[in-house]
Amino acid sequence: MTSTKHLRHRNVQRDGPRLERKIDKSRTKNSDSSSKLVAIASVLVTILLLAGYFRYQMYLREKIKTPLYAPTMLAKDSTSAKSDPERYWGSYRPNTYFGMRTRTQRSPVFGLMWLNQFTQQMPPPIRHWCDQGDRLRRYGWLKHDGVNFGVQEIVDSDFMLTTSFIKRAGGDHGGDWSANITATSTNKERAGLVSLMFYVALDGSGHVEPVISKNGQRINSINGYSPELGHYRLSFPKSTSNSTHKHNYLITHATGLDKLKEAMMNGIRVEAWDKSRRVPYFVLGGRQVPIDVEDGSNFVVFQVTTELPYTLEVMYESGSIYERPNRLQGEVFSSLLAQHVSEFDKKFDEKFDLKSKAFSQSQVDFAKAALSNMVGSVGYFYGASLVQSVYNEEPVNYWKAALYTGVPSRSFFPRGFLWDEGFHNLLISKWDPEISKDILSHWLDLMNTEGWIPREQILGDEARARVPDEFVVQRNTNANPPTLILPLQRLIKSMLDSDKEKDKKFLKAVLPRLQTWFQWYNTTQIGPKRFTYQWRGRDGHTNKELNPKTLTSGLDDYPRASHPTNDEYHVDLRCWMALSAGLIADISKSLGVDGAEYAATHAVLTDNGLLDDLHWSEKKQQYSDYGLHTDKVRLERPKPPANLQPGQRPPNMNMDKVRVVHADPELGFVNAFGYVSLFPFLLKIVEPSSPKLTRILTDMRSEKHIWTDFGLRSLGQTTPLYNRYNSEHDPPYWRGALWINMNYLALGALDFYRKTPGPYRAQADEIYTELRNNVVNNIYSQYMRTGYIWENYNDKTGEGKGCHPFTGWSALGLVTGVATGTRSSPAHELLIIGYFDNLCLFRQI
Ligand SMILES: *[C@@H]1O[C@H](CO)[C@@H](O)[C@H](O)[C@H]1NC(C)=O
Ligand SMILES: *[C@@H]1O[C@H](CO)[C@@H](O)[C@H](O)[C@H]1NC(C)=O
Ligand SMILES: *[C@@H]1O[C@H](CO)[C@@H](O)[C@H](O)[C@H]1NC(C)=O
Repeated sequence: MTSTKHLRHRNVQRDGPRLERKIDKSRTKNSDSSSKLVAIASVLVTILLLAGYFRYQMYLREKIKTPLYAPTMLAKDSTSAKSDPERYWGSYRPNTYFGMRTRTQRSPVFGLMWLNQFTQQMPPPIRHWCDQGDRLRRYGWLKHDGVNFGVQEIVDSDFMLTTSFIKRAGGDHGGDWSANITATSTNKERAGLVSLMFYVALDGSGHVEPVISKNGQRINSINGYSPELGHYRLSFPKSTSNSTHKHNYLITHATGLDKLKEAMMNGIRVEAWDKSRRVPYFVLGGRQVPIDVEDGSNFVVFQVTTELPYTLEVMYESGSIYERPNRLQGEVFSSLLAQHVSEFDKKFDEKFDLKSKAFSQSQVDFAKAALSNMVGSVGYFYGASLVQSVYNEEPVNYWKAALYTGVPSRSFFPRGFLWDEGFHNLLISKWDPEISKDILSHWLDLMNTEGWIPREQILGDEARARVPDEFVVQRNTNANPPTLILPLQRLIKSMLDSDKEKDKKFLKAVLPRLQTWFQWYNTTQIGPKRFTYQWRGRDGHTNKELNPKTLTSGLDDYPRASHPTNDEYHVDLRCWMALSAGLIADISKSLGVDGAEYAATHAVLTDNGLLDDLHWSEKKQQYSDYGLHTDKVRLERPKPPANLQPGQRPPNMNMDKVRVVHADPELGFVNAFGYVSLFPFLLKIVEPSSPKLTRILTDMRSEKHIWTDFGLRSLGQTTPLYNRYNSEHDPPYWRGALWINMNYLALGALDFYRKTPGPYRAQADEIYTELRNNVVNNIYSQYMRTGYIWENYNDKTGEGKGCHPFTGWSALGLVTGVATGTRSSPAHELLIIGYFDNLCLFRQI
């Protein structure tokens, strides 16, 4: 509809000059005043039409960055110190090894850097942002409750750091917090010499003034002020450690929060550690504020260089607290921390009921770490996405907004991703529903007037600095699986029959947003036939990719129709739509508003007869995508030209391989068995009595297809593109490897089918137990072996692959827990915590 309007206006513009020419002619031939009037009127009409046209163009261009006109989920100051003092401060900088900030737009940031003085490298490697290149043996939160405290271990080459923090309420600005950073040597032969650097940096507002010791060497404290925090003081109490240590500092100006390390490098110089032995060491060079900087220093770093072991204490104290019972250091710190830890342990046992089960201590610790990393990696970001619609010649800024969100990977993906976040919150909502509701509300408030939410959120300088340019711009034609529906289903379950005003308020706020979101998918992501759906964003013109990627589906290179066209439709998206329609219908019913259209759409989308007509391949006996497809594609190096002279180098010798199609594609079902074919089962749309169910279960359990000792692989070995590169440089991603979010959905579905009356219960039950043990055993043993939870796992060896740590949805596998039953071996009992309760929440057919 919009595009025809658009065309009509284009014609108006074309008519404009022609009209004027006509007017000119008429004037010379005839000086009749009435025709003059006609002429003037025509000009006026043209001007009006043109003005209308430009206005409309402007409207189209602006649309993408116009927020949805509906009450927001969050009150305007919902994260302020006044409204929510408890979660004001936090380790909301998951991209750093250890960093603190508030949930305000331009919070000052606090954080840790460190360097090993016994390094041969120049300049020395300074650790700051989580980076796989640092090759740390492991790091991550062991315990973190998302609100009050966290304890993290970081294992570097010859030493280990423990970073703990606790918060204490009081005053008007979110209270105090203290951190304890302990460095211990892990190398008996070599006593380490390590610099710990703790900084405060301003994000464009407020000021900081260091207080230097009498000998001019040490920053004793930093007095700061910012509009949100008022006056505050950061102090570094004198250490009681007997290890030899020296102090230095840096006071300078950084041009942005993404430039802190650079500013630090600029301030570094080399001195002798020990005059007699002349061991060189790297020290910060004191006050170095460039003279041309008007607003003075905005980056202050405390440095201690020390032999190990050593503990650095950092104390942040709000100026609005006038009477403290004591200061949060030493014994006070330790005992308050111990109290939080014991409350954490107790809550963990209650929530996940591990007490009654025979888990080893190591397995319990592992489960706690998995949960803690999910919760402890929640960040707070502020900024504007770069977005583009067909009406924008250049990318434009979305409105500036805040996002409180989990992140898939602190090293590799330290920012919000729409479809990951749904999975994250299956776990977070189990631990702390308030945190989840807050996260989901932040995401839903990012919806624009069209009903679109950008799928990757790159907000602020630090986030932007970590994303290659080509991935920054988000396009409003592109969707992503609406996984937020999954945790919403869980959270809303208890609200549907609730009389509480708070619950009703949440449902009332969420409903219009979900409706608009659904309508966006239901109009922009539709397929060629009624009730078919199609992921947009595939490139139909490339010859570089074996199978053009479908990034929007979340499953990147999972094979779809070989030739993207408008004829194709995708079974996974149809299932997501069914789920969404069902949830909206439920909420409508609970609020007593008309949800008939959603109930009807849900009924159509879960109708197994229709589903089978559209997506069941009789030939392959599997659910499939439909489209223009051939299996006969290969990547080949372009042939050198035939008329090459002797001795002449073929010009295309170094050319990338291109796709060569060896048989004409035909309209039909796409030949691929894997996660996408499972979707009607994964989202519990297949009827428990359907013979298709036993077929799916049988194929799922077959090693020829997707079964492995470590979980379900993404693509069956019988599929032509199994484990194939997608271009010369793109290794297989969703073409064989095991992914934990999908295994999690599979376990949820198996549990549903094993408990629902039907002919295939026993089959589901058997596979459920086996799969559960395989998935959990593997993640656990890989964690013990490598120190990390991984992005995905090799289907042949079970080894962790891709980025790490990946404590986003991979943490689900660890924390998905379940009653044991006698069949599973107790030694390998899984620690899967969340999904048991989750199962019944999926909509029943
Ligand atoms: C430092 O040394 C003194 C005396 O040797 C000892 O009493 C004290 O416990 C030591 N402190 C620490 C933190 O090791
Ligand atoms: C700091 O933490 C370590 C262990 O995390 C603990 O042993 C030490 O006592 C703490 N130091 C202080 C001063 O609280
Ligand atoms: C979704 O789209 C279909 C096809 O246009 C329509 O029949 C259906 O009513 C829509 N569903 C809702 C809930 O709007």
